[in-house]
Amino acid sequence: MTHEMRKWHISYQRTIEYEVVSCPNLFHPQNGALLSIGKKENTRRFVVVDSNIEKYYSTEIKDFFKYHKIDAKILTFPAGEKNKSIDNYLWILRELDMFPINRRDEPIIAIGGGVLTDVVGFVASSYRRGVPHIKIPTTLMGYVDASVGIKSGINFNSNKNRLGSFEPPKKVFLDRTFLTTLPKRHILNGVCEILKLAIIKDTSLFELLESHGAECVNSKFQDEIGALILDRAVGAMLEELEPNLFEDDLARRVDFGHTFSYGFETFHDTQLLHGEAVLIDMAISAILAASRDLLSKQELNRIFDLITKLGVVLIDDLVNPDLLWKTLNERKYHRNGLQRVPLPDGLGKCVFVNDIKFEEIQSACKNLENWTEINDTIHEY
Ligand SMILES: NC(=O)c1ccc[n+]([C@@H]2O[C@H](COP(=O)([O-])OP(=O)(O)OC[C@H]3O[C@@H](n4cnc5c(N)ncnc54)[C@H](O)[C@@H]3O)[C@@H](O)[C@H]2O)c1
Repeated sequence: MTHEMRKWHISYQRTIEYEVVSCPNLFHPQNGALLSIGKKENTRRFVVVDSNIEKYYSTEIKDFFKYHKIDAKILTFPAGEKNKSIDNYLWILRELDMFPINRRDEPIIAIGGGVLTDVVGFVASSYRRGVPHIKIPTTLMGYVDASVGIKSGINFNSNKNRLGSFEPPKKVFLDRTFLTTLPKRHILNGVCEILKLAIIKDTSLFELLESHGAECVNSKFQDEIGALILDRAVGAMLEELEPNLFEDDLARRVDFGHTFSYGFETFHDTQLLHGEAVLIDMAISAILAASRDLLSKQELNRIFDLITKLGVVLIDDLVNPDLLWKTLNERKYHRNGLQRVPLPDGLGKCVFVNDIKFEEIQSACKNLENWTEINDTIHEY
């Protein structure tokens, strides 16, 4: 008797839905927004907070849960990129396992910058094969970028974000009052991601940054125009992410500034922040675009003038053609064999190129060096 081959085809579609809500003063006791998600009575919450948030907002956060009679376990996560590690991921999982939460209606709450929301997102995606979580970004990088999408991750094997998952949050609450305590360097770090969106997608955002960007940096985005810029940036980011949440399409406009930056963050033992690495990449990419006549000289100047005006820090001493070339080739694995480098095609638009040559990179590095020499944009902290 022969056993005939059989085949089963499985197809299942899942709708991904979540809201990103701007909600100032989230931890004011009268503000119930945070508790609109999950069980409301006799309930518990597992809350992970960044250690600097604990420093500035501990009383406010504890009082909020006490006021609402919620048994909250508050875990303080040590600040900094070096803590985005497998050890800390496992540590949170152990703490969570000791506390247990209901599998569906007691969402984990993550309060912190991109490091914390990335790690907690990964915890949520793997604990019991997925439990709900809520993200509350407290840095500008988190506000406009890291928290609003569905990517989670930890660093592994000396590579950034090498382990991770796609895990949609239940909700993201954007409370810009947290930015009041954020150090200026981290404000500027987030501004680099706003600049990215302005260059490849939104000329009105670019103009807003030209006219009001510097004053928003000073006010830490607490004024009305700051709120407007943040709304525009978040809206632009989500418009890009939504149709390609799981990155089925590897040509992503939001990857502008995220090709060579990987090498500055990974192959160099520097203290460079993510946005600072992205900025150097954007400068190189803009020069490459100009050399291909995708950007006019005038447009290139506008980009560099805006960099100067905003006071973002262009650290060019890491820039060398060999590192850039090595990084570009490494990134091809991530982008499935092609360079797929986004370059601005005029302001507010973008194209993808797959044929960047080493000589082009050499010449772009030289141009950047000349520009920074003339403009002296290297800042000390
Ligand atoms: N998931 C994604 O799509 C995505 C996108 C972009 C970046 N990221 C990741 O985000 C991380 C960078 O995020 P980040 O720039 O927010 O860094 P971060 O989380 O390290 O926070 C920066 C610093 O600010 C402190 N801090 C946070 N909020 C504060 C506040 N309100 N007041 C005072 N201090 C505060 C933190 O303790 C830390 O020292 C990187 O690991 C990057 O890979 C992820």
